[in-house]
Amino acid sequence: MKPLARWFSFPAALVLLVAPACSPSAAEEPARALPEVWGPAAAVDENPDPHVVEVRLEATSTTVDIDGEHVEMFGYNGMVPGPLLRVRAGDELVVHFHNGLTQPTTIHWHGLRIPAEMDGSPRIQAPIEPGGDFTYRFVVPEAGSYWYHPHVRAHEQVEAGLYAPLVVWDERDPVYDAERYVMLDDILLDAKGRLEEPFSSPPDAMFGRYGDRLFTNGQTGALVAEATRGTVERWRLVNTANARTMLVKVEGARVRVIGTDGGLLPEPYAVDEITIAVGQRFDLEVTYDTGGEVTLSSFFTDDKAWKPVLDVAVAESEREARAIPWPEIVVPERASDGSASIVIDAVQGGEHGAQWRLNGQVHPEEPLFTFPEGRTVTITLDNKIGPEHPFHLHGQFFHVLDDPSQPGLKDTVLVPGFSKVTILASFDNPGRWMAHCHILEHSELGMMSEIVVTPKDGGEVEAPRAGHGH
Ligand code: C2O
Ligand code: CU
Repeated sequence: MKPLARWFSFPAALVLLVAPACSPSAAEEPARALPEVWGPAAAVDENPDPHVVEVRLEATSTTVDIDGEHVEMFGYNGMVPGPLLRVRAGDELVVHFHNGLTQPTTIHWHGLRIPAEMDGSPRIQAPIEPGGDFTYRFVVPEAGSYWYHPHVRAHEQVEAGLYAPLVVWDERDPVYDAERYVMLDDILLDAKGRLEEPFSSPPDAMFGRYGDRLFTNGQTGALVAEATRGTVERWRLVNTANARTMLVKVEGARVRVIGTDGGLLPEPYAVDEITIAVGQRFDLEVTYDTGGEVTLSSFFTDDKAWKPVLDVAVAESEREARAIPWPEIVVPERASDGSASIVIDAVQGGEHGAQWRLNGQVHPEEPLFTFPEGRTVTITLDNKIGPEHPFHLHGQFFHVLDDPSQPGLKDTVLVPGFSKVTILASFDNPGRWMAHCHILEHSELGMMSEIVVTPKDGGEVEAPRAGHGH
Protein backbone atom coordinates (compact mmCIF):
# COMPACT_ATOMS: atom_id res chain seq x y z
CA MET A 1 0.00 0.00 0.00
CA LYS A 2 1.17 3.52 -0.73
CA PRO A 3 1.16 6.16 1.98
CA LEU A 4 -2.21 7.82 2.17
CA ALA A 5 -0.74 11.16 1.22
CA ARG A 6 -0.36 9.95 -2.30
CA TRP A 7 -3.94 8.89 -2.74
CA PHE A 8 -5.09 12.30 -1.72
CA SER A 9 -2.49 14.46 -3.38
CA PHE A 10 -3.14 12.65 -6.64
CA PRO A 11 -6.69 13.95 -7.33
CA ALA A 12 -5.55 17.45 -6.36
CA ALA A 13 -2.95 17.39 -9.12
CA LEU A 14 -5.62 16.26 -11.55
CA VAL A 15 -7.92 19.09 -10.67
CA LEU A 16 -5.22 21.45 -11.90
CA LEU A 17 -4.96 19.60 -15.14
CA VAL A 18 -8.50 18.91 -16.26
CA ALA A 19 -11.16 20.09 -13.83
CA PRO A 20 -13.92 22.38 -15.05
CA ALA A 21 -13.41 25.88 -13.71
CA CYS A 22 -16.66 25.96 -11.74
CA SER A 23 -16.65 22.95 -9.48
CA PRO A 24 -19.03 22.95 -6.55
CA SER A 25 -18.29 20.01 -4.30
CA ALA A 26 -20.30 16.88 -4.93
CA ALA A 27 -22.05 17.33 -1.58
CA GLU A 28 -23.71 20.61 -2.59
CA GLU A 29 -24.72 19.34 -5.96
CA PRO A 30 -28.22 17.96 -6.54
CA ALA A 31 -28.27 14.36 -7.72
CA ARG A 32 -27.97 14.25 -11.50
CA ALA A 33 -29.93 11.74 -13.47
CA LEU A 34 -27.19 10.35 -15.67
CA PRO A 35 -28.57 7.53 -17.81
CA GLU A 36 -27.47 3.92 -17.56
CA VAL A 37 -24.94 2.96 -20.21
CA TRP A 38 -26.33 0.78 -23.02
CA GLY A 39 -23.92 -1.95 -24.18
CA PRO A 40 -22.28 -4.80 -22.29
CA ALA A 41 -24.26 -5.40 -19.06
CA ALA A 42 -22.79 -3.90 -15.89
CA ALA A 43 -21.06 -6.01 -13.23
CA VAL A 44 -22.96 -6.22 -9.92
CA ASP A 45 -21.72 -3.79 -7.29
CA GLU A 46 -21.66 -5.75 -4.03
CA ASN A 47 -20.73 -2.82 -1.79
CA PRO A 48 -23.54 -0.70 -0.27
CA ASP A 49 -21.16 2.24 0.23
CA PRO A 50 -22.11 4.74 -2.54
CA HIS A 51 -18.44 5.73 -2.88
CA VAL A 52 -17.12 2.20 -3.45
CA VAL A 53 -17.81 -0.05 -6.41
CA GLU A 54 -16.85 -3.62 -5.49
CA VAL A 55 -17.21 -6.37 -8.07
CA ARG A 56 -16.10 -9.91 -8.85
CA LEU A 57 -14.48 -10.74 -12.15
CA GLU A 58 -13.43 -14.12 -13.36
CA ALA A 59 -11.62 -14.90 -16.60
CA THR A 60 -12.66 -18.26 -18.04
CA SER A 61 -13.16 -20.04 -21.33
CA THR A 62 -16.56 -19.34 -22.78
CA THR A 63 -18.45 -20.19 -25.95
CA VAL A 64 -19.70 -17.42 -28.22
CA ASP A 65 -22.07 -17.91 -31.15
CA ILE A 66 -20.53 -16.24 -34.18
CA ASP A 67 -22.18 -16.58 -37.59
CA GLY A 68 -23.60 -19.97 -36.70
CA GLU A 69 -20.41 -21.37 -35.13
CA HIS A 70 -19.89 -22.08 -31.43
CA VAL A 71 -16.52 -20.42 -30.97
CA GLU A 72 -14.34 -21.17 -27.93
CA MET A 73 -13.18 -17.84 -26.54
CA PHE A 74 -12.17 -16.26 -23.23
CA GLY A 75 -14.51 -13.98 -21.29
CA TYR A 76 -14.76 -12.00 -18.09
CA ASN A 77 -17.73 -13.42 -16.15
CA GLY A 78 -18.55 -15.48 -19.23
CA MET A 79 -19.16 -12.39 -21.37
CA VAL A 80 -17.50 -11.07 -24.56
CA PRO A 81 -16.98 -8.15 -24.16
CA GLY A 82 -16.76 -8.39 -20.39
CA PRO A 83 -19.04 -6.49 -18.00
CA LEU A 84 -19.21 -2.72 -17.81
CA LEU A 85 -17.68 -1.12 -14.74
CA ARG A 86 -19.14 2.29 -13.93
CA VAL A 87 -17.52 4.34 -11.19
CA ARG A 88 -17.74 7.98 -10.13
CA ALA A 89 -14.50 10.00 -10.35
CA GLY A 90 -12.92 10.09 -6.88
CA ASP A 91 -14.59 6.86 -5.74
CA GLU A 92 -12.87 3.57 -5.07
CA LEU A 93 -12.99 0.54 -7.35
CA VAL A 94 -12.38 -2.89 -5.81
CA VAL A 95 -12.14 -5.85 -8.17
CA HIS A 96 -11.84 -9.36 -6.76
CA PHE A 97 -10.35 -11.18 -9.69
CA HIS A 98 -10.09 -14.93 -10.17
CA ASN A 99 -8.06 -16.47 -12.97
CA GLY A 100 -10.08 -19.39 -14.29
CA LEU A 101 -7.91 -19.66 -17.42
CA THR A 102 -5.19 -22.26 -17.99
CA GLN A 103 -2.58 -19.50 -18.49
CA PRO A 104 -1.38 -16.58 -16.34
CA THR A 105 -2.96 -13.15 -16.74
CA THR A 106 -3.32 -9.66 -15.20
CA ILE A 107 -5.84 -6.86 -15.70
CA HIS A 108 -4.69 -3.50 -17.02
CA TRP A 109 -7.03 -0.50 -16.62
CA HIS A 110 -6.30 1.20 -19.92
CA GLY A 111 -6.10 4.98 -19.55
CA LEU A 112 -6.59 5.29 -15.79
CA ARG A 113 -3.92 7.26 -13.94
CA ILE A 114 -3.80 4.99 -10.90
CA PRO A 115 -0.90 3.80 -8.71
CA ALA A 116 1.54 1.73 -10.78
CA GLU A 117 1.24 -1.41 -8.65
CA MET A 118 -2.48 -1.63 -9.57
CA ASP A 119 -1.86 -1.13 -13.31
CA GLY A 120 -1.58 -4.81 -14.25
CA SER A 121 1.96 -4.43 -15.61
CA PRO A 122 3.78 -7.77 -15.42
CA ARG A 123 6.97 -5.80 -14.73
CA ILE A 124 5.49 -4.95 -11.33
CA GLN A 125 2.71 -7.42 -10.62
CA ALA A 126 3.49 -11.13 -10.71
CA PRO A 127 1.05 -12.56 -13.28
CA ILE A 128 -1.88 -14.31 -11.62
CA GLU A 129 -1.43 -18.03 -12.14
CA PRO A 130 -4.26 -20.32 -13.27
CA GLY A 131 -6.60 -20.76 -10.31
CA GLY A 132 -5.10 -17.72 -8.57
CA ASP A 133 -6.76 -14.59 -7.20
CA PHE A 134 -5.84 -10.94 -6.95
CA THR A 135 -7.70 -7.92 -5.61
CA TYR A 136 -7.28 -4.67 -7.51
CA ARG A 137 -8.15 -1.66 -5.37
CA PHE A 138 -7.67 1.98 -6.30
CA VAL A 139 -9.30 5.40 -6.40
CA VAL A 140 -10.47 6.19 -9.90
CA PRO A 141 -9.16 9.63 -10.83
CA GLU A 142 -10.83 11.36 -13.75
CA ALA A 143 -14.04 11.00 -15.73
CA GLY A 144 -13.95 9.54 -19.21
CA SER A 145 -14.30 6.41 -21.31
CA TYR A 146 -11.80 3.68 -20.52
CA TRP A 147 -11.47 -0.07 -20.94
CA TYR A 148 -9.74 -3.00 -19.30
CA HIS A 149 -7.85 -5.99 -20.69
CA PRO A 150 -5.00 -8.40 -19.79
CA HIS A 151 -1.33 -7.45 -20.02
CA VAL A 152 0.09 -10.97 -20.32
CA ARG A 153 -0.05 -12.67 -23.73
CA ALA A 154 -2.37 -9.83 -24.67
CA HIS A 155 -2.17 -10.65 -28.39
CA GLU A 156 -3.84 -13.98 -27.57
CA GLN A 157 -6.04 -13.07 -24.59
CA VAL A 158 -7.51 -9.83 -25.97
CA GLU A 159 -8.12 -11.45 -29.36
CA ALA A 160 -9.90 -14.28 -27.54
CA GLY A 161 -12.36 -11.86 -25.91
CA LEU A 162 -10.83 -10.47 -22.71
CA TYR A 163 -11.70 -6.79 -22.94
CA ALA A 164 -14.47 -4.72 -21.40
CA PRO A 165 -15.75 -1.15 -20.94
CA LEU A 166 -15.06 1.09 -17.97
CA VAL A 167 -16.93 4.38 -17.56
CA VAL A 168 -15.82 6.98 -15.06
CA TRP A 169 -18.55 9.56 -14.57
CA ASP A 170 -18.58 12.86 -12.82
CA GLU A 171 -21.28 15.01 -11.25
CA ARG A 172 -20.41 17.69 -13.79
CA ASP A 173 -20.87 15.49 -16.85
CA PRO A 174 -23.48 16.76 -19.30
CA VAL A 175 -26.71 14.78 -18.98
CA TYR A 176 -27.77 13.00 -22.17
CA ASP A 177 -30.97 11.11 -22.96
CA ALA A 178 -28.96 7.92 -23.43
CA GLU A 179 -25.35 6.74 -23.32
CA ARG A 180 -24.02 3.85 -25.38
CA TYR A 181 -20.68 2.06 -25.20
CA VAL A 182 -19.62 0.56 -28.54
CA MET A 183 -16.53 -1.68 -28.55
CA LEU A 184 -15.16 -1.95 -32.09
CA ASP A 185 -13.23 -5.12 -32.78
CA ASP A 186 -12.54 -7.61 -35.54
CA ILE A 187 -12.07 -11.35 -35.31
CA LEU A 188 -10.44 -14.08 -37.40
CA LEU A 189 -11.98 -17.55 -37.64
CA ASP A 190 -10.44 -20.51 -39.45
CA ALA A 191 -12.26 -22.75 -41.93
CA LYS A 192 -13.67 -24.84 -39.07
CA GLY A 193 -15.07 -21.80 -37.29
CA ARG A 194 -12.41 -21.70 -34.58
CA LEU A 195 -10.31 -18.75 -33.50
CA GLU A 196 -7.10 -18.70 -35.49
CA GLU A 197 -3.94 -19.43 -33.54
CA PRO A 198 -1.72 -16.41 -32.84
CA PHE A 199 0.86 -15.72 -35.58
CA SER A 200 -0.80 -18.23 -37.90
CA SER A 201 0.14 -16.21 -40.96
CA PRO A 202 3.34 -14.28 -41.77
CA PRO A 203 1.71 -10.81 -42.06
CA ASP A 204 0.72 -11.06 -38.36
CA ALA A 205 4.28 -10.26 -37.34
CA MET A 206 4.44 -7.34 -39.77
CA PHE A 207 1.02 -5.70 -39.45
CA GLY A 208 -0.56 -7.46 -36.48
CA ARG A 209 -3.55 -9.82 -36.53
CA TYR A 210 -6.37 -8.56 -38.73
CA GLY A 211 -9.76 -10.23 -38.47
CA ASP A 212 -11.83 -11.41 -41.42
CA ARG A 213 -14.99 -9.82 -39.99
CA LEU A 214 -15.95 -6.91 -37.77
CA PHE A 215 -17.02 -7.84 -34.25
CA THR A 216 -18.86 -5.13 -32.35
CA ASN A 217 -19.96 -5.59 -28.72
CA GLY A 218 -19.50 -9.30 -29.32
CA GLN A 219 -21.46 -9.70 -32.55
CA THR A 220 -20.66 -9.65 -36.25
CA GLY A 221 -23.86 -8.05 -37.59
CA ALA A 222 -24.96 -4.50 -36.78
CA LEU A 223 -26.18 -3.85 -33.24
CA VAL A 224 -29.73 -2.50 -33.14
CA ALA A 225 -31.19 0.16 -30.89
CA GLU A 226 -34.14 2.53 -30.68
CA ALA A 227 -34.43 6.23 -30.02
CA THR A 228 -36.83 9.13 -30.49
CA ARG A 229 -36.48 12.25 -32.59
CA GLY A 230 -35.45 15.25 -30.53
CA THR A 231 -33.22 13.30 -28.14
CA VAL A 232 -29.46 13.64 -27.78
CA GLU A 233 -27.10 10.77 -26.91
CA ARG A 234 -23.51 10.19 -25.88
CA TRP A 235 -21.75 7.36 -27.68
CA ARG A 236 -18.48 6.10 -26.28
CA LEU A 237 -16.38 4.32 -28.91
CA VAL A 238 -13.23 2.29 -28.32
CA ASN A 239 -11.12 0.30 -30.74
CA THR A 240 -10.25 -3.02 -29.05
CA ALA A 241 -8.90 -4.80 -32.15
CA ASN A 242 -5.42 -6.33 -32.01
CA ALA A 243 -4.23 -4.26 -34.95
CA ARG A 244 -6.92 -2.78 -37.22
CA THR A 245 -7.26 1.01 -37.26
CA MET A 246 -10.98 1.76 -37.54
CA LEU A 247 -12.45 4.49 -39.73
CA VAL A 248 -16.06 5.22 -38.69
CA LYS A 249 -18.87 7.59 -39.62
CA VAL A 250 -22.43 8.29 -38.49
CA GLU A 251 -25.19 8.95 -41.02
CA GLY A 252 -28.67 10.32 -40.37
CA ALA A 253 -27.87 12.39 -37.29
CA ARG A 254 -25.87 15.45 -36.28
CA VAL A 255 -22.58 14.45 -34.67
CA ARG A 256 -19.75 16.13 -32.83
CA VAL A 257 -16.73 14.75 -30.99
CA ILE A 258 -17.06 15.66 -27.30
CA GLY A 259 -14.33 13.56 -25.68
CA THR A 260 -11.07 11.71 -26.24
CA ASP A 261 -8.94 9.27 -24.19
CA GLY A 262 -8.50 11.84 -21.40
CA GLY A 263 -12.16 12.91 -21.05
CA LEU A 264 -14.37 15.73 -22.30
CA LEU A 265 -13.02 18.37 -24.67
CA PRO A 266 -13.14 22.08 -23.89
CA GLU A 267 -14.45 22.61 -27.42
CA PRO A 268 -16.39 19.81 -29.09
CA TYR A 269 -16.08 19.73 -32.89
CA ALA A 270 -18.13 18.40 -35.79
CA VAL A 271 -16.71 15.64 -37.98
CA ASP A 272 -17.72 13.42 -40.86
CA GLU A 273 -15.32 10.51 -40.37
CA ILE A 274 -13.19 9.53 -37.40
CA THR A 275 -10.02 7.45 -37.42
CA ILE A 276 -9.76 5.42 -34.21
CA ALA A 277 -6.40 3.79 -33.58
CA VAL A 278 -6.28 0.62 -31.51
CA GLY A 279 -6.73 1.53 -27.85
CA GLN A 280 -8.14 5.03 -28.45
CA ARG A 281 -11.55 6.27 -27.34
CA PHE A 282 -13.77 8.89 -28.95
CA ASP A 283 -16.95 10.16 -27.33
CA LEU A 284 -19.60 11.43 -29.73
CA GLU A 285 -22.66 13.56 -29.17
CA VAL A 286 -25.41 12.31 -31.50
CA THR A 287 -28.43 14.56 -32.04
CA TYR A 288 -31.59 13.18 -33.67
CA ASP A 289 -33.07 16.14 -35.51
CA THR A 290 -35.31 13.88 -37.57
CA GLY A 291 -36.81 10.42 -37.34
CA GLY A 292 -35.60 7.52 -39.50
CA GLU A 293 -32.53 5.35 -39.59
CA VAL A 294 -29.23 6.40 -38.02
CA THR A 295 -26.21 4.25 -38.75
CA LEU A 296 -22.72 3.99 -37.34
CA SER A 297 -20.55 2.33 -40.00
CA SER A 298 -16.98 1.17 -40.08
CA PHE A 299 -14.92 1.06 -43.25
CA PHE A 300 -13.81 -2.53 -43.84
CA THR A 301 -10.63 -2.38 -45.87
CA ASP A 302 -10.84 -6.03 -47.01
CA ASP A 303 -14.04 -5.33 -48.97
CA LYS A 304 -13.39 -1.62 -49.45
CA ALA A 305 -16.90 -1.02 -48.14
CA TRP A 306 -18.66 0.67 -45.24
CA LYS A 307 -20.33 -1.86 -42.94
CA PRO A 308 -23.04 -0.89 -40.49
CA VAL A 309 -22.07 -1.71 -36.90
CA LEU A 310 -24.94 0.06 -35.10
CA ASP A 311 -28.40 0.80 -36.51
CA VAL A 312 -30.66 3.08 -34.50
CA ALA A 313 -34.34 3.27 -35.50
CA VAL A 314 -35.37 6.82 -34.57
CA ALA A 315 -39.13 7.15 -33.98
CA GLU A 316 -40.91 10.31 -35.10
CA SER A 317 -42.05 12.82 -32.51
CA GLU A 318 -42.86 16.52 -32.27
CA ARG A 319 -39.94 17.07 -29.97
CA GLU A 320 -37.07 19.35 -31.06
CA ALA A 321 -33.56 18.51 -29.93
CA ARG A 322 -32.17 20.74 -27.18
CA ALA A 323 -28.62 22.06 -27.17
CA ILE A 324 -26.61 20.39 -24.40
CA PRO A 325 -25.09 23.06 -22.15
CA TRP A 326 -21.34 22.55 -22.19
CA PRO A 327 -19.40 22.69 -18.91
CA GLU A 328 -16.39 24.97 -18.78
CA ILE A 329 -13.38 22.70 -19.08
CA VAL A 330 -9.94 24.20 -18.63
CA VAL A 331 -6.91 22.23 -19.74
CA PRO A 332 -3.97 24.40 -18.73
CA GLU A 333 -1.21 24.82 -21.25
CA ARG A 334 1.95 23.20 -19.93
CA ALA A 335 5.25 24.38 -21.29
CA SER A 336 7.71 21.74 -22.41
CA ASP A 337 10.72 21.40 -20.13
CA GLY A 338 12.50 18.55 -21.85
CA SER A 339 12.62 16.55 -25.03
CA ALA A 340 13.17 12.95 -26.00
CA SER A 341 12.75 10.76 -29.02
CA ILE A 342 11.67 7.20 -29.63
CA VAL A 343 12.78 5.61 -32.86
CA ILE A 344 10.65 2.73 -34.13
CA ASP A 345 11.96 0.11 -36.52
CA ALA A 346 12.13 -3.63 -37.14
CA VAL A 347 14.76 -6.26 -37.76
CA GLN A 348 14.57 -9.74 -39.24
CA GLY A 349 14.75 -12.63 -36.86
CA GLY A 350 12.99 -14.28 -33.98
CA GLU A 351 10.44 -17.07 -34.05
CA HIS A 352 8.04 -15.18 -36.33
CA GLY A 353 10.55 -13.65 -38.74
CA ALA A 354 10.39 -10.05 -37.52
CA GLN A 355 11.18 -8.25 -34.31
CA TRP A 356 10.20 -4.72 -33.40
CA ARG A 357 12.53 -2.23 -31.78
CA LEU A 358 12.27 0.92 -29.71
CA ASN A 359 15.42 3.01 -29.80
CA GLY A 360 17.30 0.12 -31.31
CA GLN A 361 16.29 -2.55 -28.82
CA VAL A 362 13.90 -5.47 -28.95
CA HIS A 363 12.05 -5.59 -25.61
CA PRO A 364 14.33 -3.03 -23.96
CA GLU A 365 15.11 -4.19 -20.44
CA GLU A 366 16.16 -0.81 -19.10
CA PRO A 367 13.63 2.05 -19.01
CA LEU A 368 13.68 4.19 -22.16
CA PHE A 369 13.77 7.29 -19.94
CA THR A 370 13.61 8.34 -16.33
CA PHE A 371 11.85 11.64 -15.67
CA PRO A 372 11.20 13.43 -12.41
CA GLU A 373 7.51 13.73 -11.49
CA GLY A 374 5.98 16.90 -12.91
CA ARG A 375 8.20 17.11 -15.97
CA THR A 376 6.47 17.95 -19.26
CA VAL A 377 8.36 16.41 -22.16
CA THR A 378 8.15 16.81 -25.93
CA ILE A 379 8.55 13.32 -27.34
CA THR A 380 9.12 12.64 -31.02
CA LEU A 381 7.89 9.26 -32.17
CA ASP A 382 9.96 8.54 -35.25
CA ASN A 383 8.67 5.64 -37.33
CA LYS A 384 11.39 4.51 -39.73
CA ILE A 385 9.33 1.77 -41.34
CA GLY A 386 6.13 1.16 -43.35
CA PRO A 387 3.62 -0.31 -40.89
CA GLU A 388 1.78 2.12 -38.60
CA HIS A 389 1.94 2.00 -34.80
CA PRO A 390 -0.65 3.09 -32.22
CA PHE A 391 1.76 4.12 -29.48
CA HIS A 392 0.41 3.91 -25.91
CA LEU A 393 1.72 5.32 -22.67
CA HIS A 394 0.47 4.01 -19.33
CA GLY A 395 -0.41 6.21 -16.38
CA GLN A 396 -0.11 9.63 -18.10
CA PHE A 397 -1.88 11.70 -20.71
CA PHE A 398 -0.42 13.70 -23.55
CA HIS A 399 -1.36 16.13 -26.31
CA VAL A 400 -0.58 15.56 -29.95
CA LEU A 401 1.46 18.54 -31.17
CA ASP A 402 1.31 20.13 -34.62
CA ASP A 403 -1.94 18.40 -35.55
CA PRO A 404 -5.07 20.49 -35.00
CA SER A 405 -7.22 17.57 -36.17
CA GLN A 406 -6.37 15.69 -32.95
CA PRO A 407 -7.29 17.89 -30.00
CA GLY A 408 -7.72 16.67 -26.45
CA LEU A 409 -5.81 14.52 -24.03
CA LYS A 410 -4.71 11.12 -25.32
CA ASP A 411 -3.03 8.01 -24.00
CA THR A 412 -2.60 6.49 -27.47
CA VAL A 413 -1.57 8.08 -30.77
CA LEU A 414 -1.26 6.64 -34.26
CA VAL A 415 2.17 6.99 -35.84
CA PRO A 416 1.71 6.34 -39.57
CA GLY A 417 4.35 4.56 -41.67
CA PHE A 418 7.57 6.49 -42.40
CA SER A 419 6.56 9.51 -40.38
CA LYS A 420 7.07 11.40 -37.15
CA VAL A 421 4.50 12.40 -34.58
CA THR A 422 5.31 14.72 -31.71
CA ILE A 423 3.52 14.60 -28.39
CA LEU A 424 3.68 16.69 -25.23
CA ALA A 425 3.40 14.40 -22.21
CA SER A 426 3.06 15.50 -18.61
CA PHE A 427 4.62 12.95 -16.26
CA ASP A 428 2.51 13.64 -13.20
CA ASN A 429 2.11 10.08 -11.98
CA PRO A 430 5.19 8.54 -10.34
CA GLY A 431 6.03 4.89 -10.96
CA ARG A 432 7.19 2.44 -13.55
CA TRP A 433 5.01 2.80 -16.65
CA MET A 434 4.76 0.70 -19.75
CA ALA A 435 5.18 2.45 -23.09
CA HIS A 436 4.37 0.25 -26.06
CA CYS A 437 2.74 -0.25 -29.40
CA HIS A 438 -0.92 -1.27 -29.02
CA ILE A 439 -0.70 -3.54 -32.06
CA LEU A 440 -0.51 -6.49 -29.74
CA GLU A 441 1.65 -8.60 -32.05
CA HIS A 442 4.16 -5.73 -32.27
CA SER A 443 4.39 -5.40 -28.50
CA GLU A 444 4.71 -9.18 -28.18
CA LEU A 445 7.56 -9.09 -30.71
CA GLY A 446 9.54 -6.37 -28.99
CA MET A 447 7.74 -2.98 -28.98
CA MET A 448 7.24 -2.99 -25.23
CA SER A 449 9.27 -0.79 -22.93
CA GLU A 450 8.83 1.40 -19.90
CA ILE A 451 9.33 4.93 -18.68
CA VAL A 452 10.13 5.61 -15.04
CA VAL A 453 8.75 8.67 -13.25
CA THR A 454 10.54 9.39 -9.97
CA PRO A 455 8.39 10.81 -7.17
CA LYS A 456 9.04 14.41 -6.23
CA ASP A 457 8.90 13.59 -2.51
CA GLY A 458 12.25 11.87 -3.02
CA GLY A 459 10.85 8.34 -2.76
CA GLU A 460 12.18 5.52 -4.85
CA VAL A 461 10.40 3.70 -7.63
CA GLU A 462 10.30 -0.03 -6.98
CA ALA A 463 12.68 -2.20 -8.98
CA PRO A 464 11.06 -4.34 -11.65
CA ARG A 465 10.23 -7.91 -10.73
CA ALA A 466 13.08 -10.28 -11.44
CA GLY A 467 12.50 -12.32 -14.58
CA HIS A 468 9.35 -10.42 -15.50
CA GLY A 469 9.51 -11.57 -19.12
CA HIS A 470 7.69 -9.10 -21.30
CU1 C2O B 1 -4.35 -1.09 -23.46
CU2 C2O B 1 -0.51 -1.47 -22.16
O1 C2O B 1 -2.42 -1.29 -22.84
CU1 CU C 1 3.42 -1.26 -33.73
